[in-house]
Amino acid sequence: MIKTIIMAAGEGTRMKSETSKVLHKLINKEIIKYVKKASDFDNSETIIIGGANKEKLVELFPDIKIVEQKIGEVIPYGTGYAASLALDYIDDNDQVLILNGDIPLIKRESLEKLINYHDETDSSCTILSTLIDRPKGYGRIIRDENNNFIKITEDRDLVIGQENINEINVGIYIFKAQDLRESLSKINSDNDQNELYLTDCIGVLKNQDKKVSAYVSEDCEEFYGINNKYELYQASKILQNRINKAHMINGVIIESPETTFIEEGVEIGIDTVISGFVKIYGNSKIGKSCLIDGSTRIINSTIEDNVRVDNAVIEDCYMEKDSNIGPYSRIRPNSYIGKGVHIGNFVEVKNSKLGEGTKAGHLAYIGDSDLGKDINIGCGVVFVNYDGKFKHRSTIEDGAFIGSNANIVAPVKVEKEGFVAAGSTITEDVSSGELIIERAEQKHITGYVERKKERDKNHKE
Ligand code: UD1
Ligand code: CA
Repeated sequence: MIKTIIMAAGEGTRMKSETSKVLHKLINKEIIKYVKKASDFDNSETIIIGGANKEKLVELFPDIKIVEQKIGEVIPYGTGYAASLALDYIDDNDQVLILNGDIPLIKRESLEKLINYHDETDSSCTILSTLIDRPKGYGRIIRDENNNFIKITEDRDLVIGQENINEINVGIYIFKAQDLRESLSKINSDNDQNELYLTDCIGVLKNQDKKVSAYVSEDCEEFYGINNKYELYQASKILQNRINKAHMINGVIIESPETTFIEEGVEIGIDTVISGFVKIYGNSKIGKSCLIDGSTRIINSTIEDNVRVDNAVIEDCYMEKDSNIGPYSRIRPNSYIGKGVHIGNFVEVKNSKLGEGTKAGHLAYIGDSDLGKDINIGCGVVFVNYDGKFKHRSTIEDGAFIGSNANIVAPVKVEKEGFVAAGSTITEDVSSGELIIERAEQKHITGYVERKKERDKNHKE
């Protein structure tokens, strides 16, 4: 079985943040979640080495073993020490895949290739390397004159002439469990940083004439490690480009990919146009031939074919086809927007259902309500759903007309084709076909303006 150890206890001081490095988000998902996902195989089990972030990691991965690495002056430190903390959970016949927790761009295929290479060469340890233009900061792969891999030397320990070696250790290794266990027991902290280096296991195994290999992976972008917020941004750009490109190849039109953020796993149908500063997150699914325009944000929502959305925020919702939202609308969680529904300028919908063909074009709040088909909600209508203590629901049946600036005070029901006059505050049910006017009768006071002008004139004199 493969045991995957993700090392995530480092303090990440260069991040300059109160949030642990691996818990920073990259297009709406924590860095470590990407690493976990790419390294999660059918026959594998993950163990995460956490530090001060342990509790947060447990929250994020409730089903995974999280081992806490205590950090303190008298306690050893370093990648070798971190890996040793997982040994209790490793059996002798396991293969142990070890990864740094800060490389979110890694692809599963590359890890599979590493594992296959390791199996084929029957190595005790295989490390993953790649070639990069600016290797400064990374451990380098040292090879002999016959190109055989000999060891990894940390950047700070390089001798003159070695700085230009551009084959680097990306921080991904696979070991036979027994060889890992044995070599970890032999490394020491006799180095510049007084740390236990996992990379020193290579030398230990070499000295015992065990086979160690370096598998060179081609796409160096995958191994981009994040240490500060600029690198977080850079990684996000690479990921964004990867995701957007895949959607475009699949038939989506993304007009401005630099400003479009789509989380991994979102589905979008062909001929849909994503225009503007759009963010689509979570478990979202968008159909064919839609237009998603303006600064729209869509979170965990399903949108069927041929829907138009302009400058809207849509969260945990379902939108049927041909519906039309915005500009400037907010559809809050647990809302169902029926076929052909129109929700317009400055309209907020929450925990409500709107049946086919219903329209709310301007400045309305529809909360905790069930609306049937072909209803007209006038400008400024408010569904008054909260009495200061409890929320209540209202029901509006098919074909009803709710005049502008009406208040629907829940719980109340407007039956089929009920007609509520503008400005009415409805506190009792409206029967089918009724017109309800709830407002003071209009009075006509003739000559008022003339009299007022006269009064004002006298006042001045
Ligand atoms: C390490 C490698 C280096 C490689 C580089 C790739 C060693 C000695 N060096 O260096 O060859 O080129 O990664 O990025 O391994 N961590 C713990 N506990 C610790 C120390 C670190 O969990 O006590 C974790 C960190 O959270 C991080 C990972 O291990 O996810 C790597 O640690 P880091 O300090 O960034 O290693 P580098 O010095 O970059
Ligand atoms: Ca009124």
